Amino acid sequence: MSALEYRADLYDVIHGRRRQDIAWYLELCRRANGRVLELGAGTGRTVLPIARAGIAIDALDVAEEMRAHLQGVLAAEAEQVRANVRVLAGDMTTFSLPDSYRLIQIPFRSFLHNIAADQQRACLDRCQAHLEPGGLLAFDVFLPSEAYMAAFEGEYEGLFRMDDPYPLTDDGFLLLSEWNAYDRAAQTVRAVHRYELLSKNGQIAESLYQILDLAFLYPQDLERLLTAAGFTDITFYSDFTEQPVGPETRDVAVTARRI
Ligand SMILES: C[S@@+](CC[C@H](N)C(=O)[O-])C[C@H]1O[C@@H](n2cnc3c(N)ncnc32)[C@H](O)[C@@H]1O
Repeated sequence: MSALEYRADLYDVIHGRRRQDIAWYLELCRRANGRVLELGAGTGRTVLPIARAGIAIDALDVAEEMRAHLQGVLAAEAEQVRANVRVLAGDMTTFSLPDSYRLIQIPFRSFLHNIAADQQRACLDRCQAHLEPGGLLAFDVFLPSEAYMAAFEGEYEGLFRMDDPYPLTDDGFLLLSEWNAYDRAAQTVRAVHRYELLSKNGQIAESLYQILDLAFLYPQDLERLLTAAGFTDITFYSDFTEQPVGPETRDVAVTARRI
């Protein structure tokens, strides 16, 4: 993981809009009825609503900057919410914690940071080792459908394309542009994000690049990986609903049980 991957102070500006997964993870946490661990917890986008709902959750992340940001956010929360969260340093492929869990969750495609097959397997093995018997693993990936990839490649591959501006608290705004390149043989994608922070009168105050190398995985890859790692009851959800995964699906969510 490189220092270029995430900017903690801009993460929520961009991804705070992503709400579709939160109710799904929150419901799994409610049903877990026991300890919950989130891997790749980042700035706490998913951790906070869970802690605010009165559920205790351990939040593990490899990046110091993301953990520090989450600690800062927690400092402004009520004591009962703060008490529900333990922020832990660790890598999802090697972590070793004293507790075991009813639920381990890896929201917002963080599992895809495991770019190589041995990392994917190591992460699943660590989850097995930390789940109670009958405990649940839940995570999501994007569906790398031909339509999805085609939207970013061909004449668009390597071409920066801009999102709508994101407002910043100082009345300025953030312009985010990205380009993507898919390697179908290796099943990896390189996403390059360009950030420009503009003042309210349009001057560029700061610009930076972020480079994210991710794996991409199809449901059949997940099924094979989870089965090989000893999971059972593997269930897929299209866009965090009970619908089956199909060509229009964007987010493939999956749950799998430790025997
Ligand atoms: C897309 S963010 C997800 C953050 C949060 N779970 C959410 O849903 O918004 C991915 C997070 O995974 C973390 N990460 C990347 N590789 C990791 C690893 N090997 N072990 C633990 N965390 C990792 C990054 O630091 C980042 O905070």
